[in-house]
Amino acid sequence: MALERTLILVKPDAVQRRLTGEILSRLERKGLKIVGAKMLRITPELSRQHYAEHVEKPFYPDLEGFITSGPVVAVCAEGPGAIAVCRTLMGATNGREAAPGTIRGDYGQSRSMNLIHGSDGPDAAARELKLYFKDEELFAFDKLIEPVLYE
Ligand code: TYD
Ligand code: MG
Repeated sequence: MALERTLILVKPDAVQRRLTGEILSRLERKGLKIVGAKMLRITPELSRQHYAEHVEKPFYPDLEGFITSGPVVAVCAEGPGAIAVCRTLMGATNGREAAPGTIRGDYGQSRSMNLIHGSDGPDAAARELKLYFKDEELFAFDKLIEPVLYE
């Protein structure tokens, strides 16, 4: 299985609800590796770039209002098949329909305030990661040190 990188956003509702650690912990426990992370406030301009496929849709103004309403935590997650694995962990877009055991299924009942974003394919992942991270902000760190815990 090919090693992939995907963009995850812990959305403003999840940050405000103190679910950042819980959500990132679920990705880590699944075996995904966090290779980049930052907190930022998405601007209307970045929102339009991020959600380019949705800008003309009727729900876009509310979506922009929500995604710019508070800070998000942007993460680059890496692993075999990471893009689809993250989408599976996230669950369906609408929290009311998302399966129990998924992030959206366990923590939300909203379609718009649905806690987490994950890229939906390889092209989207490459495009979206570039919006949030410079190359030097993503790390390959497994082999830098010996896996010892104590000196
Ligand atoms: P979409 O890319 O379809 O969902 P996903 O996040 O699961 O990839 O839509 C992007 C976001 O837009 C979605 O997370 C929530 C919001 N949204 C609405 O508010 N109303 C809608 O009808 C849809 C389809 C999405
Ligand atoms: Mg999407």
